[in-house]
Amino acid sequence: MKLYLDTANIGEIKEIAQWGVLDGVTTNPSLMSREKGDYREILKEICDIVKGPVSAEVLSPNSADMVKEAKDLSKISEHIVIKIPCTIDGLKATNILSQEKIRVNMTLIFSANQAILAAKAGASYISPFVGRLDDIANPGIEVIKDILDILNNYNFPSRLIFASVRHPEHVRQAAILGAHIVTMPYRVFSSMIKHPLTDIGIERFLNDWEKR
Ligand code: G3P
Repeated sequence: MKLYLDTANIGEIKEIAQWGVLDGVTTNPSLMSREKGDYREILKEICDIVKGPVSAEVLSPNSADMVKEAKDLSKISEHIVIKIPCTIDGLKATNILSQEKIRVNMTLIFSANQAILAAKAGASYISPFVGRLDDIANPGIEVIKDILDILNNYNFPSRLIFASVRHPEHVRQAAILGAHIVTMPYRVFSSMIKHPLTDIGIERFLNDWEKR
């Protein structure tokens, strides 16, 4: 199971990398817009820290411009994976890029049918947004189950990224279901480590030791 951080914040990335649990990073235009500095330089710095897959999203709506943008972003680092929205133009661009061995993370996936098309077009990664489905009372976890079954049924090489993670329970569910990758915000990484009994246990051990 791979754990990715869903952020473009260098401080957060450095912190989780030190824990020895960080396999990759996913960014998107909303996350990038929160950071100060040059877009390409931030991505380069993230790649140098993570030394694993770093998703950078294209902004163009049409396939020709998506391909151009993707090729340009790919020059930043060998670790860059191109994030492309699941649209018809996105599929066309993914088809071209996958043939040129440029890895694509197809994003904004909300259904099994979208995932089938993404896998067929050659996306290396498929990102269903679980939290946003839950938000509209459409259980995201059911979509994850379907997509994992489909990828297994046909031996598609695409890896599923469980995205739009809102709480640690999503991470547990992802792991039980066998999601290949989970990408989560810093606050969810932080809540994974917390347990009140751990804190109480440490306090009790220290108190006992001082009483010796
Ligand atoms: O990588 C993008 C995805 O994880 C979005 O999450 O919380 O904005 O729905 P959220």
